[in-house]
Amino acid sequence: MLIIKDISNLQSYLNAYQNRKYSIGYVPTMGALHKGHGELIKQSKKDNHKTIVSIFINEKQFSSKEDFENYPRNKGFDYDFCIDNEVDILFEPSSEEIFNNDEKIIKNKNFKDMLCDKFRKGHFDGVITVLDKFFSIIKSNKVYFGEKDYQQLKIIEKFIEEKYKSLDLISIQTKRHEEGIAYSSRNEKLSKKQTQDFISFHIQTKNFISSLEKSLDIENANLKANEFMTSQDVEKFEYFEFRNNTDLSFIGSISEARLFYAIYKGKVRLIDNLKV
Ligand code: PAJ
Repeated sequence: MLIIKDISNLQSYLNAYQNRKYSIGYVPTMGALHKGHGELIKQSKKDNHKTIVSIFINEKQFSSKEDFENYPRNKGFDYDFCIDNEVDILFEPSSEEIFNNDEKIIKNKNFKDMLCDKFRKGHFDGVITVLDKFFSIIKSNKVYFGEKDYQQLKIIEKFIEEKYKSLDLISIQTKRHEEGIAYSSRNEKLSKKQTQDFISFHIQTKNFISSLEKSLDIENANLKANEFMTSQDVEKFEYFEFRNNTDLSFIGSISEARLFYAIYKGKVRLIDNLKV
């Protein structure tokens, strides 16, 4: 595996790949890699001749310096993980090189003022701003994102439709632990007790979803979701609601919806979405 830290080196390799007509799959990450990222890498390896993973903790998508500084970092392990998963290139550029004093922020216009966007103002602007940089440097054939961050996935889908029409976006189902909770870099920050509490919250949420009648519409399902949430022992949550799979609206029946939530365990913010 090649570990490349600067753009010009990366582009020399990419040119050689393109001359050989290799198809390139790209998996953007912020590191602290786990089996969820592993699924994206696996799919890219199946689909392409070469797979590039980037590790870049993007300061522009964090709302506070504290959150940015507390984001888990696990370099040695990440290298092993990428080697074990047979990544071809690990691209790990510096912030200075990626942004190169460019202060311009791309404003996201889609799926605004709802779910995470309502509580993390500017977060998705930061996400698409950094992806714009990476997409234009890497020019891969395909790019891989997880359903774990469903709103992010939908926003990126629109961004690619608008600006990178020839790039294929492949979405990957959420990889879960046996107990049901999603793999996430933030899980590392939970104590044993918080993890157990989170698992039981997840199980109860799944049971709640199964208890709903299939004919219910999304609006009425949300009344029940409110009732369910008030019965839960969750110190803090931002949202817990059903939305339509396709346009994230409140329109339709729950058979075409997902339940989205953002809850806190201590200081750790946990998000997930479950298909009904
Ligand atoms: P990060 O949180 O590192 O996630 C990288 C990719 O892995 C995202 O597409 C995310 O949806 C996917 N992923 C995370 N957990 C997963 C799981 N359990 N199952 C399947 N896929 C999972 O998302 C980001 O980084 C950043 O916002 C980024 C897109 C890299 C831009 O900075």
